Amino acid sequence: MEVIIRPDAQSAANLTARLIACTMRTTPNPVLGLATGRTMLIVYSILVEMYRRGEVDFRNTTTFNLDEYVGIPSNSPGSYRTYMDKNLFKKVNIDGANTYLPDGMAADLNHECERYEQAILDAGGIDFQLLGIGRSGHIGFNEPLSAMRSRTREKALSPKTIIQNAPFFGSQDGTPRRAITMGVGTILDARRCVLLATGAEKARIIAKAVEGPITAMISATALQLHPRCTVIIDESAAVHLKNQDYYRWIFENEPEWDAYRA
Ligand code: GLP
Repeated sequence: MEVIIRPDAQSAANLTARLIACTMRTTPNPVLGLATGRTMLIVYSILVEMYRRGEVDFRNTTTFNLDEYVGIPSNSPGSYRTYMDKNLFKKVNIDGANTYLPDGMAADLNHECERYEQAILDAGGIDFQLLGIGRSGHIGFNEPLSAMRSRTREKALSPKTIIQNAPFFGSQDGTPRRAITMGVGTILDARRCVLLATGAEKARIIAKAVEGPITAMISATALQLHPRCTVIIDESAAVHLKNQDYYRWIFENEPEWDAYRA
């Protein structure tokens, strides 16, 4: 795992978008794993701008989102399908047939989860998995005690997550209680993982996820096991990290980051 600290949320999102664009340019038929949430809104708006300037082309790109709510029609305002259509898919030249999200309305949810895993395999696996982090330390909707080897499945959402997501549904009562999510094992199979977290409210959980012991209580700690995981944070989210000097030194000195310092 490596940690990159950028001055603010905009520059952290900008670096993230540039890494996604780099994967899209250097991989013939790129497969992206995508995330939702407030943090990703800036990333998608930067990617849309890059597309409009002709810097990225989504024609040959396939995407798999981490998760989707159960029991919410895909065209309803709170669904992750709606979020993705609105913020990215309808604004770029991606083929809608190559944009996958789990179907939270499927009659047989177990079968839908198996189908989703198979679709990822059929696409050749995920080249670049974008991740946010929830307040309980979850990636996707892998709530506390999610098995490190879990695959795509239905999960009950924790009270913390329901509170976090309630603004999108008007009230806690109207917020879905369950979701289909890629498993921790599914996420760890991606060839590259990038977790983006910004803002002071993420600082404590980032410190645990990055420098704390690996535990199923915080599914983001599983990323410490990934051979190629980059955690991109802003100064506000970095305040509780002990090894900040080392992380800054790596970004300033490693040739891998030469093109990204400006
Ligand atoms: C939801 C999503 C996660 C996301 C998290 C954080 O729980 N399922 O994938 O990382 O929200 O969202 P935000 O960026 O709004 O803090």
